[in-house]
Amino acid sequence: MAEEQKLLKVTIDNISIEVEPGTTILMAARKIGGDVVPPTMCFYSKLKNSGGYCRTCLVRVAAGSTADPRPMPKLVASCRTNVMDGMVVENITSPAVLEARKGVVEFLLLNHPLDCPVCDQAGECDLQDLGYEHGSEGTRYEFKRRTFERIDLGPYIQLHMTRCILCYRCVHTANQVSGGRDHGVLDRGDHSQIATYIQKSLDNNLIGNVIDVCPVGALTDRTFRFKNRVWFTKPVEAHCACDKCSGKVRLWMRGDEVLRVTARKDQWGEVEDWICNTCRFDRKKMTDWVIEGPTKVNRHSVISQGHYVHSVKPKETFSAIMKGRKPKLMMDIHTVSEINNVELSEINGPATGKTFDEDPHAMGYNVTDVKIGVGRNAQGTDSTNPNTP
Ligand code: SF4
Ligand code: FES
Repeated sequence: MAEEQKLLKVTIDNISIEVEPGTTILMAARKIGGDVVPPTMCFYSKLKNSGGYCRTCLVRVAAGSTADPRPMPKLVASCRTNVMDGMVVENITSPAVLEARKGVVEFLLLNHPLDCPVCDQAGECDLQDLGYEHGSEGTRYEFKRRTFERIDLGPYIQLHMTRCILCYRCVHTANQVSGGRDHGVLDRGDHSQIATYIQKSLDNNLIGNVIDVCPVGALTDRTFRFKNRVWFTKPVEAHCACDKCSGKVRLWMRGDEVLRVTARKDQWGEVEDWICNTCRFDRKKMTDWVIEGPTKVNRHSVISQGHYVHSVKPKETFSAIMKGRKPKLMMDIHTVSEINNVELSEINGPATGKTFDEDPHAMGYNVTDVKIGVGRNAQGTDSTNPNTP
């Protein structure tokens, strides 16, 4: 009879759990769940060899093991450190960890632009969430941030290296999921950048998945860029009989219009099933899909916000106070984003693809209940979605 494997006991933030040998501290924490789980920016459990680059997941090992209970001298990356029997780990219970995490956020933001209002990833950006939860309110960085031109990686993906935090997830995805890559990290230190060799386009049929694994707005979907803000869209689970991938996707709807197709993500924000480019970029009609029902959205996510019932637009007070004069704008969003020529505040309903493609005054509708999948809501609200507060 095979010998029974001895489980290892680890205690994280005073909660004990038994795990199999070879489990990392991070995966043990994920088994416990909740606040004790360290945040991650580069680790991705679905990708081999990921993790170890960003240091977001640092924890303090207060006791190494039962055999050697000395604390580890430095904070360790929980995604790359295996548990030992009797190990005691501190994450949110350690002020040193929280302080170090603040420093990590500051480092990640050294070169990252702070322009979430005009970034396509805003509202679903891991770095935005991390900065909000763990960052300090200011930066001590005094130098010019490095900037790059946007590059089209083939017909569907755009790389804006200015936003990249060099987490290597896209490189691992291209290597392991789409089987062979034409891109990687070139150069070292401050000069490091994700680049394609001689701008070769990435045309593998699974390469679209790099968009989903990118934790920031560096890799974006060219078929969706600036068509809408994520909190105005409604995520819906759907599937189709695809012969190239699982066909299980998440549709991002605006009314009856499918604005974007992505893979489904689990509670850790990781892709459940990789999807092919055909599903992602070419199937943008409701008739292409069998709708399963609305996606369960975390109540804390910005995506669950903004579904107001009978909201009343507040009165414009600035010009009243300033005797009719208009306030001086520090930045005109239309000059820095790609939604030029569209005054979203001037249309009475949600923007749709048509608004940005041909008619800046075109507007959409909200659907009654995405479970049914079709039909308009006479009241003009989408509050019938059971996930909407
Ligand atoms: S482009 Fe995105 S996924 Fe790729 S290394 Fe940069 S941040 Fe990571
Ligand atoms: S998530 Fe562990 S080092 Fe990046």
